[in-house]
Amino acid sequence: MTKLFNVHDYRKAAKRRLPKPIFDYLDGGADDEWSLRNNTSAFDKYELWPHQLSGVGEINLATRFLGTEHQLPVMLSPTGMTRLFHHHKELGVARAASETGYAYSLSTVGTAKMEDIAEICKTPKIFQIYVHRDRGLTHEFVERAKASNYDALCLTVDAAVAGNRERDFKNGFSVPPRLTLASLASFAAHPHWTLNFLREHDFRFINVVHRVDAISSGTLGVMKYINSQLDPSISWDDAAEIVALWGGPFIIKGVQSAEDAAQAVEIGASALMLSNHGGRQLEGSPAPVDCVRPIRDRVGDKLELIVDGGVRRPGHLIKALCLGANAVSFGRPYLYALAAGGENAVKAFLTSFKEGLKRDMALLGCADVQVLDERFLRSA
Ligand code: FNR
Repeated sequence: MTKLFNVHDYRKAAKRRLPKPIFDYLDGGADDEWSLRNNTSAFDKYELWPHQLSGVGEINLATRFLGTEHQLPVMLSPTGMTRLFHHHKELGVARAASETGYAYSLSTVGTAKMEDIAEICKTPKIFQIYVHRDRGLTHEFVERAKASNYDALCLTVDAAVAGNRERDFKNGFSVPPRLTLASLASFAAHPHWTLNFLREHDFRFINVVHRVDAISSGTLGVMKYINSQLDPSISWDDAAEIVALWGGPFIIKGVQSAEDAAQAVEIGASALMLSNHGGRQLEGSPAPVDCVRPIRDRVGDKLELIVDGGVRRPGHLIKALCLGANAVSFGRPYLYALAAGGENAVKAFLTSFKEGLKRDMALLGCADVQVLDERFLRSA
């Protein structure tokens, strides 16, 4: 593989390797993709202000959140259907995360078993749930996550229905990929992916397969899953019930307003992932990084805040922490790496991101991520 220096290089490599419908599912967002683009460009509103001659011989990246120690303030966001991109799937990503010091989150609609991920992860691990129409399933997840010693539970609340991802409709994207004339041509043009696909092509959502018949027969893709299995009528009361059932560090993912953050405090959540699902759900929703200040002002230190969406460079992480976040999280960057070259490429990407973080901290004149604050930031 040619040398890949940054997330843009990994994205280009993923685009070369994946058939178009698969790449577009990974890369795309809702409607005109304004929220998707804005998630990253919003970071440009903030400048980093270096403090020179500050003695930055040793840089500390370690920090504490979700009730546990982290080697650096970054989580890998939960992403469903990871098997689509490479046969190393979630297992390869979790191994790479574990070896490079990153926390890993597994999606409900993942293609690896939550118990297997728990075995692999030596770094903090999070299980992401949706509230299903079948409430028994949600309860079962909580029990399985407890039994496997997950560090935190993450409830995603911004997917009442599936977002309008037009690239997927135009491509006739389906899970598992359908063999049509167009898709056969696309597979033939991408032999790496096709060989990979043929190695093992079980795309079922392995953690729910025993409860949902349409999954066992392989006819339920991710959008149909959201629309048919998830409960759009869930309320703060339902969330409160799950917080109590879990009884440990609890993240609500998909909150963006100060009012919702205050509700999250009321029901006993411990953290928020400020997120618009990577611009894949509500088009027009704000960039997560812009939600930090108003939410921090409203809830003080009653909640930990994780900026999820648009993070592409270590400087983005630094800006989020200066604004008052405890950590950041990203999805597409590690998926591009997985598609580009499997587990090793994920490891290479995560390693270079971590090295870049150390470099930028030194250039900023700050030796410890825990002391980053508004002194190092100006609004551009
Ligand atoms: C996601 N995301 C997501 N979120 C979630 O709570 N459950 C899920 O199953 C998925 N699945 C998923 C698949 C793919 C292919 C992508 C790209 C994203 C959203 C994800 O957790 C996260 O919020 C975004 O990826 C963050 O934006 P960036 O980092 O991709 O810009």
